[in-house]
Amino acid sequence: PFSRISTRSLQTSSAKRPPLAFAFDIDGVLIRGEQVIPQAKRALEILEGDNELGMKIPFVLITNGGGTSETIRCQRLSKKLGMEISVSQFMQSHTVLKSIVHKYAEKPVLVLGGRPGAVPRVAAEYGFRNVSTTLDILRWNPSVWPFHDLDETEKAFLESRPTFDPSTRFSAIIVFHDPRNWALDVQITCDILRSDGYVLPSSKPRKTGDDDVKLIFCNPDLLWGSDYPTSRIGQGGFRAAFQGVYKALTGSEYPYVQYGKPTKATYRFAEKLLRDRLQELHPLDVDDGHLPNVYMIGDNPESDIAGANAAGWHSVLVETGVYDRSQGSPAHRPTHLVKDVEKAVRWAVHREI
Ligand code: G3P
Ligand code: MG
Repeated sequence: PFSRISTRSLQTSSAKRPPLAFAFDIDGVLIRGEQVIPQAKRALEILEGDNELGMKIPFVLITNGGGTSETIRCQRLSKKLGMEISVSQFMQSHTVLKSIVHKYAEKPVLVLGGRPGAVPRVAAEYGFRNVSTTLDILRWNPSVWPFHDLDETEKAFLESRPTFDPSTRFSAIIVFHDPRNWALDVQITCDILRSDGYVLPSSKPRKTGDDDVKLIFCNPDLLWGSDYPTSRIGQGGFRAAFQGVYKALTGSEYPYVQYGKPTKATYRFAEKLLRDRLQELHPLDVDDGHLPNVYMIGDNPESDIAGANAAGWHSVLVETGVYDRSQGSPAHRPTHLVKDVEKAVRWAVHREI
């Protein structure tokens, strides 16, 4: 009976559904900094229906960026790209944390990165109920790192914050987005991880169930394509800086969990997003979750191409971001290499029809 259902739904699915779907990276493919890459709008219009199939071809956006809510990011992207980008077709570096928040709901978590206040708002939206920031700790005791003077934005953020309690034992330190104050954040992260979860050394025995402090990074990008002429150092650079200092202090790196492209967890989360988007655009009575051929279009071989290849997707590398042909062959071999996102979409659609 299962084979009959899957054959039937496959027949209806191939009749009613396009033979391909897309996943787009954002920075270096659709935008650079605040600028929209010229070919981006045309590429997405093709998928919105202006194609030989005469139907919408589903796509999702997967970025290692972050630092604000998915809703706000999609509103900004919709405005920039001149078309509706819904939250149901979007994921950013820390979106995948929604699948683990239940482990930390009430537990003390230190969140790093982004503009003052933005990440705590995202964390609360996900369900983290007991969040602190390094600015809270700096206000509690400015000598924790005497070289950082609070700016007006940071002071405004702190006005709404409760006083930090130094008896807090953190369960996890989560780097949501690229930290703004690397030195302050490295200092406090080292303090907490060297004092079994406390900001100050503590002789308190662990409570039953207390594990080692989890260290989680959401974006491994050493480099990313902004509107600066050359690639910029990303959250992967912060991780290297932190681990370099921690190893100098203790003799070894601290074990950590890595999310973001190219990790499997992020691509598994993206596949579910694509399945849901396909069912949203082309609903089937019995959706067997079958995915058509997926084409990932990215500018960073280390995150976009490596992750897509490992997920069994087709990968198309563009030359409008991190990858530069003068560097020689990309570290991870794409299915295809093209100048820009419009050429990538045309090539993939033509290949499948
Ligand atoms: O912080 C953003 C950067 O790491 C890369 O973003 O969109 O190219 O995955 P994206
Ligand atoms: Mg990119």
